[in-house]
Amino acid sequence: MARPLTIRGLEIPNRIWMSPMCQYSAGRDGVPTNWHMVHYISRAIGGSGIVMVESTAIGPRHRTTAGDLGIWNGQQVEAHFKLSADIRGAGAVAAIQLQSAGRKSSHQVPWLGGGQNSPIAMDEGGWTPMAPSAKRFGNLMVPAEMTVRDIDEVVEDFAHAASNAHEAGYDVVEIHAAHGYLLHQFLSPISNHRVDDYGGSMENRMRLPLRVARAVRDTFPQHKPVFVRMTATDWIDGGITLDEASVFARSLAAAGIDLLDVTSGALSIDAPPPNRQALNVEFAQTLRAESGVPVAPVGQLSDPALVGTVLEQSTVDAVMVGRALLRDPYFALRLLGDGSKAQWPRQYHRAL
Ligand SMILES: Cc1cc2nc3c(=O)[nH]c(=O)nc-3n(C[C@H](O)[C@H](O)[C@H](O)COP(=O)(O)O)c2cc1C
Repeated sequence: MARPLTIRGLEIPNRIWMSPMCQYSAGRDGVPTNWHMVHYISRAIGGSGIVMVESTAIGPRHRTTAGDLGIWNGQQVEAHFKLSADIRGAGAVAAIQLQSAGRKSSHQVPWLGGGQNSPIAMDEGGWTPMAPSAKRFGNLMVPAEMTVRDIDEVVEDFAHAASNAHEAGYDVVEIHAAHGYLLHQFLSPISNHRVDDYGGSMENRMRLPLRVARAVRDTFPQHKPVFVRMTATDWIDGGITLDEASVFARSLAAAGIDLLDVTSGALSIDAPPPNRQALNVEFAQTLRAESGVPVAPVGQLSDPALVGTVLEQSTVDAVMVGRALLRDPYFALRLLGDGSKAQWPRQYHRAL
C-alpha cells in the first residue's frame, strides 16, 4: 500500500488516494477560495498519494450548484495553479475531476434550502439543466433535451477544460462519467431515451462519453494520465449492468484511458446503492480483468484494516477514500506510517 505506482512516467507515491468531494464553497465565479486551499493541502500533508480536487465544471451551465468550482476561464486557472502547486509542494500528486452535471444541475448547496434535491429558483440565479432526454431527477427541474450542437459543445468544453487543467499545473485529470451526471445519463437507458445516434444501443449510448474520453486524451499532454470515474452498475432493473460496464471499460482502454475509478449507483433517486463495505472492489477487479486498465475502487473503504486487506489481497491498483478523509485528513498517513515520529511532518514533532 505504500508502494508507488507509475502511470505514463508519473510516480504516485502510494496507493491511498483522496476521492473527489465537492465542497460547494466557491463563489459564483467558480474560483477556488481559501477553503479549498486549506482543505486540499491538509489532505496532501496527511499522506494521500493523489489529492483529487472535487468535480469542477467545464462551463457555467455544467455546475451542480452555484458554489461549484470551475475551470473554464483564466481567472479560475490562475487560482487553480496555486492550489495544484501547493498540493504538490505538500507531497501529493495534484489531480482534478472534470464535470458536467446534466439533469443534476442547478440545485441548492446541501446545507441550504431543501438541499441537494431542491432546485435553485430561476429568479434566484437558477438555470435550465440539459440532458440526453427531458427526464427530471427527483424534484429537480425538467432538463432540456440536448441538440447535436449541444453534444458537440460538451466535447469541446471538456477538451478546453483539460487544456486549462494542464495550464493550471494538474498532473492528472479525471472525467466524471458516474453518479448520475451527464456522461452517465447518456450511458444509462434509464435516463437516455434518445432515438438518434446517441441513444438506443450501448454503442450509441457510449458515443458521447467516448468522444469526450478521446478528446480529453488528445488534449491533455501525453505524459500525463487521464482517469475516468465510471459506474459498474446502476443497481436498477433495466439500467447499466456489469456486462455493459465491461464493454465501456474495454472501449475506454482503446481510447487510451489510464485508470478506471470504479463506483456505482446514484443515477436514480429511487435506487440507492446497498450499504455494504468495499462494495465496488469486486466490480473493479472484474473491470480490470476485462479491460486490462488499472483500477481504483471507491465506496465504503473507510476502515483502515479493510483498506490494507483490499490493497494487499485483491487485484486493484489503488483505493479512493472519500468520507473517511473528511473526518480525518491524516487517514493515509496513519495507515501508511509505522507509528514513529518520523512519519509526521517535522513541524509537528514537538507534539509527539
Ligand atoms: C461531501 C461529498 C461530496 C462529494 N462530491 C463528489 C464529487 O465532486 N465527485 C465525485 O465523483 N464524487 C463525489 N462524492 C462521492 C465520493 O467521492 C465517494 O465516491 C463516496 O463518498 C463514496 O466513498 P466513501 O464511502 O469513501 O465516502 C462526494 C461525496 C461526499 C460525501
